[in-house]
Amino acid sequence: MAKKHKVALGIDIGGSGVKGAPVDLEKGEMIGERFRIDTPQPATPEAVLEVVGRIVDHFADDLPEDAAIGITVPGVVQHGVVKFVGNLDDRWVDFDADTEFEKVLGRPVHVINDADAAGVAEARFGAAKGTEGLVLVMTLGTGIGSGAVYNGELLPNFELGHLQMWGDKAEAKAAASAKEREELTFTEWAEERLQPYFSHVELLFSPELFVIGGGVSRKHEKFLPLLELDTPIVPAELKNTAGIVGTAVVAAEMVDGRTDDAT
Ligand code: BGC
Repeated sequence: MAKKHKVALGIDIGGSGVKGAPVDLEKGEMIGERFRIDTPQPATPEAVLEVVGRIVDHFADDLPEDAAIGITVPGVVQHGVVKFVGNLDDRWVDFDADTEFEKVLGRPVHVINDADAAGVAEARFGAAKGTEGLVLVMTLGTGIGSGAVYNGELLPNFELGHLQMWGDKAEAKAAASAKEREELTFTEWAEERLQPYFSHVELLFSPELFVIGGGVSRKHEKFLPLLELDTPIVPAELKNTAGIVGTAVVAAEMVDGRTDDAT
């Protein structure tokens, strides 16, 4: 029988910071403090890889030698190849991140979308645990991320922030960054942006549950109660650890699967 990994390293690559921590895969919790380094500018794959290497080194003593590394990026990733990124350099497009990162880091690596990682974490350990059917974990930040989970299984790369609304990508008007940029009050943001957006998503997908993440979800009581939807809508539970936890879980499972295949 293949050995099941108990610890993996999760790393979250964002537009402003790269953050990582070892994750206890059974508890769905970070082990100790996360370590953060500013995202290099320009955020090319090579420059970010160097920063990721420093994060891996930082935790090297705490990680089993064969521990997997899960990494998130704010964009579309298919089989470890980045297809599109919102907030990083365009040189990420068509970059085979799994292969290139593994070469340099010398450990098994799997790269996935940031909201997909949050979706997995909330479904396994958080607000969507035990919910049957379709759950949409929506992260409201610089953009809008969407992690779709059906009966606990991830449906990758939903990209619902890119639905066309108001003659633009919906996230340009409804993300938390639009609230800041346009200096909208929570009520204006909820009524004029989030309400039409979530009504539209609800009409298209009829989910069982919306889970709302992103930094602004800390203030969920200021806007979630203003939304009128048929679908229950609740704040995320894993807060800013969801991406790190989710990507570590997915990477470890991929490696465990690989090992199974080989035995
Ligand atoms: C990207 C998504 C990402 C989301 C949150 C969007 O701009 O297209 O892939 O999940 O931002 O970072």
